[in-house]
Amino acid sequence: MMRNLVAGNWKSNKSINEARNWMDEMGEAMDKLPKNVRIMVAVPAPYLASLAHEKHPRILIASQQVSANGHGAFTGEFTADMLVSCGVDYALVGHSERRSDFGETDEAVSNKLKQCTTAGLGVVLCCGEHLNERDSERQEEVIKSQLESALQDVTSDDMKNIIVAYEPIWAIGTGRTATADQAAEMHTFIRRWISEKFDLYTAENTSVLYGGSCKPSNAKELFASKDVDGGLIGGASLNSGDFQSLICSFT
Ligand code: PGA
Repeated sequence: MMRNLVAGNWKSNKSINEARNWMDEMGEAMDKLPKNVRIMVAVPAPYLASLAHEKHPRILIASQQVSANGHGAFTGEFTADMLVSCGVDYALVGHSERRSDFGETDEAVSNKLKQCTTAGLGVVLCCGEHLNERDSERQEEVIKSQLESALQDVTSDDMKNIIVAYEPIWAIGTGRTATADQAAEMHTFIRRWISEKFDLYTAENTSVLYGGSCKPSNAKELFASKDVDGGLIGGASLNSGDFQSLICSFT
C-alpha cells in the first residue's frame, strides 16, 4: 500500500462550476504529477455523485460527512452505503470542525466509523488536540483517547481502509503550523499506538496525514518528517495550482 497521500478538504466552498473547473485543471496536470502519491479531495455533499463520475480516475473522492446511522427516519442524513453507491471512496470522520461546531461526540465518531467499515467505505479519521491541551503537554493523552474510542471495534483488516489524520486544532485555518519536529513526534506516537493495538504490519501500512495550515511553502519539510505520509489540506486545496504544488512536494 502506498502511504504517500495528499487529500484536499474544500469544506463549505465552491460552486459546482468552480468544482468542475478544479477537476478539469487537475486532469490536465495529472501527467506531470509524481506517481508515488495518492490524491484525494473531500468535496461538498451535493457534488459527490456527479464529481465521482467526472473526475480523473487517479483522484479519490471523499465525503466530508456521513451518517452515524443506517437507513431510516433520519431527515437530512446520508449513509455510508449511499456514498458507496454514488462512487465515493472515502469519508472524513471526526474532523475537529464537526466535533466542535456540530457537537459530534466520540461515540458518534465511533458509530460513523462502524457504518463506513460495514459499507466498505474508506475513512479518514481525524484527531487533534486543542491549544490548552498542547500547552499543558496533554497532546498524547488526548490523541490516544480519541483513537481508542474511534477504533475500539475495528480489526486489522478494517484498517486497510482507514487513514489517520493528525490535525492539531490550534493549527487548523490559523496560519500557524506544527513544526516538523512536533508533527514527527505525534505521527510516531500514532504509528506506535496502531502497532500496539493491531500489529506492526498494519502500522507500517497505514497512512498518517498531517493537517493544519499546510501549504506549498511548508509542505516539503512536513512531508519529509518521520512518519508523516502527506497532508489533509483545507485552505491551500482550493486553488488547483497550489494543490498540485503540494502533491509535487514529495519529489
Ligand atoms: P487548513 O485546514 O489547511 O485550512 O488549516 C485543514 C483541515 O481542516 O483539514
